[in-house]
Formats: sequence, structure tokens, C-alpha cells
Amino acid sequence: MKRGSTRVAQLAALTILLSWIVVSSVASSESEAPLQVGYYSRTCPRAEDLIRNVVHAAIRRDPGNGPGLVRLFFHDCFVRGCDASVLLDAAPGSNASTVEKASQANNPSLRGFSVINRAKRVLERRCRRTVSCADIVAFAARDACGLMGGVDFAMPAGRRDGRVSNASEVLNNLPGPFAKATVLVDSFAAKNLTADDMVTLSGAHSFGRSHCSAFSFRLYPQIAEDMNATYGRYLRTRCPAATGRRDRVVDLDPRTELRLDNQYYKNVQTREVLFTSDVTLLSRNDTAALVDLYARNRTLWASRFASAMVKMGHLDVLTGSQGEIRKFCNRVN
Ligand code: HEM
Ligand SMILES: *[C@@H]1O[C@H](CO)[C@@H](O)[C@H](O)[C@H]1NC(C)=O
Ligand SMILES: *[C@@H]1O[C@H](CO)[C@@H](O)[C@H](O)[C@H]1NC(C)=O
Ligand SMILES: *[C@@H]1O[C@H](CO)[C@@H](O)[C@H](O)[C@H]1NC(C)=O
Ligand SMILES: *[C@@H]1O[C@H](CO)[C@@H](O)[C@H](O)[C@H]1NC(C)=O
Ligand SMILES: *[C@@H]1O[C@H](CO)[C@@H](O)[C@H](O)[C@H]1NC(C)=O
Ligand SMILES: *[C@@H]1O[C@H](CO)[C@@H](O)[C@H](O)[C@H]1NC(C)=O
Repeated sequence: MKRGSTRVAQLAALTILLSWIVVSSVASSESEAPLQVGYYSRTCPRAEDLIRNVVHAAIRRDPGNGPGLVRLFFHDCFVRGCDASVLLDAAPGSNASTVEKASQANNPSLRGFSVINRAKRVLERRCRRTVSCADIVAFAARDACGLMGGVDFAMPAGRRDGRVSNASEVLNNLPGPFAKATVLVDSFAAKNLTADDMVTLSGAHSFGRSHCSAFSFRLYPQIAEDMNATYGRYLRTRCPAATGRRDRVVDLDPRTELRLDNQYYKNVQTREVLFTSDVTLLSRNDTAALVDLYARNRTLWASRFASAMVKMGHLDVLTGSQGEIRKFCNRVN
């Protein structure tokens, strides 16, 4: 009994020490943003558990929610910072196509909104007006990485919710699937993210799906030169040239479509990837070297991916008295 509780105390001390090391190393590279791990430990101690339970149930029901939530976090953070602006509906009576979620980069492909709304309802019942939608998006993305990739990490929090969502800001900030390496590097640099971060985060394309419309320019009229021809012929069967109004979907990773892992980098090397923005990572020395490194070492990629997600989660965050804590994630208070 005595020995057992000493052991528990030692483990607890070790855990605290380790999380302190993680927090301080993140904090020193991200001096600008005062987000904290365990931000809700006093005001809503069960917040992270409650969110995780909702995410877990949602992924069991439909595994596509996992990749959906990871992409939602990226699309939130790159446009006006991680402020949940991507979740806002147009104000009643105003033009519905003016908000971020209506942009062609988000509509109809972005998914996971209902998972965030469900988590918010649970949190409003337990801890009224305490947990921001921006933090829910960040935690949910983190949980999806853990549940579908075994990539577990602490996500600092303390973001507040924005009050503005503007559709015309989306395409200026999010690179498209036709982007080449230079464009990608520049658009990440505009967010203070490095070419390394860009390659590392692109590993998220190891799970989830794409609509045919996002890459059919690489199938017709010719299969793109930089696409694996066998894969291209397969994709043509999944995305016929004449599909009417129906935009079909294809797995991003043909090998492990429901697992967040380093298979993506092997697919890049065999040119079995959907987008120009994926295969273009081979076109530069520095990015190609990282693709090779990650293809060979899953552990290395997973730990860099976790850090890069945390770094992305600091983008232009609202903190302190900025913004608000929304009551409903799809509208301002
Ligand atoms: C480097 C530039 C990037 C480009 C050009 C890009 C582009 C795209 C496109 C076109 C899709 C398909 C959407 C559809 O038609 O359904 C997609 C899916 C996805 N992207 Fe990216 N992406 C990029 C970076 C990222 C990053 C940084 C993340 C997250 C860390 C990410 C996570 C995802 C995920 C998880 C999916 C699957 C979504 C689902 O299954 O619903 N992407 N991406
Ligand atoms: C709504 O806004 C979009 C884009 O700004 C515009 O193209 C469209 O005409 C507007 N619709 C209405 C009914 O005002
Ligand atoms: C939305 O963003 C565009 C492009 O940055 C800008 O020109 C426009 O004024 C913004 N609209 C509103 C209502 O703020
Ligand atoms: C990037 O860093 C510069 C210089 O530190 C800063 O002025 C700018 O606001 C940062 N941009 C973002 C998007 O974090
Ligand atoms: C195309 O994919 C196959 C199967 O993975 C692979 O063996 C081949 O090397 C790839 N071709 C190219 C040019 O990468
Ligand atoms: C690519 O990297 C190698 C060394 O890793 C270097 O010798 C070579 O000059 C580089 N090529 C270009 C085009 O930067
Ligand atoms: C993979 O990377 C980890 C560091 O994250 C390192 O400890 C390990 O030795 C590497 N494995 C191989 C096979 O290079």
C-alpha cells in the first residue's frame, strides 16, 4: 500500500516535470502567445475529457469525422487565426455566402461542424460560458490525431472566439491543391511557419478524403506527368470525366485510409498522391529530403507533427479580453 502510493507520487512528479519541459520548450519558441496547457484545470476541470468523449463517439459513428476535425483546425487557424471564425454562420437576414464556411475551399468539403456543436452543448451544460469554440476546435483536432494515429500531445489553450468571418479572406490565405512548392512555402511563411512545418503538417493527408473536383485537373485530359500512371488510371475509374452534378470522393491515402501515419510520405515518393501540392514536395532539395526522412521514420514524423500542430494552434490567437466566449459556436453572442 505504502510502496504503491509512493510510486504514484513519483509518477505524478515525473508527469508534472515532463509536462513542464514540454510547456516551456513550446513557450520559448512561441513567446508571443500566452496559451497554456491545462488552461481549464480550475475553471472547467473536465473540459478536455468531455471533448474527447464527444470526439471519440463521433469517430466511432463516422471515422471521417477525425480527418474532418484536423482539417477544420487548419482552415480555422490560417484564416484570421485560431478564433473559430470558420464556424460562424451568416447573421440572420444577411447574405449566406459572405462567411468563411461558404468559400469554395470549405463548402461543401469541410466537415466536423456538428461534432464541435455537440461538444459545445455538453460544455455549456457543465461550465457555462467558459470554454471557447476556438479551443474546442484545437482540442478536437488533437484528440482525432490521438485516436486515429496514436499521436498524443498536450494542446495549450486560452484562445477566445472572434466575431468576424469573411469569405473573401479564405482563398488568399489557404493554398489550393494546384499550388507548387514555392507557393506553399510562401503561404506558410506568411503564417510564420517554415517549409519544414509545411512538409510535416502535410502528413495529415494520410487520412480522410477528397472530392474528385479538387484534383480532376490531374486526370483529364491527360494523367499528369507527375502522377503515378497506375494510380492515375485507378483514379479515373473513381472519378469519371462525366459525373453530372455528383462530386464523388476518394481516399487521400490509398493504403491506410483511416490511419494518421507516415504512409503519406511513401505515397509522395511513389507519386501516389492526389494533389500537385503533395507531389511538389519532391521538387525541392530541402522538402524532398524531409519526405525521405519521414517516410523512413514514423516516430520522428509523429513528434514533429505534434509540435507543428501546437505551433499552428498559436496563429494570431485572441486572448485575455479580446473576442468573446461564444454560447453557440455557429454564431456570435
Ligand atoms: C499544404 C497545403 C494544403 C493543401 C493545398 C491542401 C488541400 C486539401 C484538399 C484540396 C483537400 C480535399 C478536400 C475535399 O475536396 O474534400 C484536403 C483534405 C484534407 N486536408 Fe489538406 N491541404 C493542405 C494542407 C493541410 C494541412 C496543413 C492539414 C492539417 C494539418 C490538412 C489536413 C487535411 C485533411 C485531414 C484532409 C481530409 C479531410 C476530410 O477527410 O474531410 N491539409 N486538403
Ligand atoms: C451574396 O454574396 C455573393 C458574394 O459576395 C454575391 O455573389 C451574391 O450575388 C450575393 N447574393 C445576394 C442575394 O445578395
Ligand atoms: C472581407 O475581406 C476582403 C478581402 O480582404 C475585404 O476587401 C473586405 O472589405 C472584407 N469585408 C468586410 C465586410 O470586412
Ligand atoms: C510573424 O512574426 C512577425 C515577427 O515576429 C510578427 O510581426 C507577425 O505578426 C507574425 N505573424 C503571424 C501570423 O503570427
Ligand atoms: C507507381 O506506384 C507503384 C506501386 O506503388 C510503384 O511500384 C512505382 O514505383 C510507382 N512509380 C513511380 C514512377 O513512382
Ligand atoms: C541539393 O542538396 C545537395 C546536398 O544535399 C547539394 O549538393 C545540391 O547542390 C543541392 N541542389 C540544389 C539544386 O540546391
Ligand atoms: C527515428 O527518430 C527517432 C527520433 O524521433 C530516433 O530516436 C530514432 O533513432 C530514429 N530511428 C531510425 C531508424 O532512424
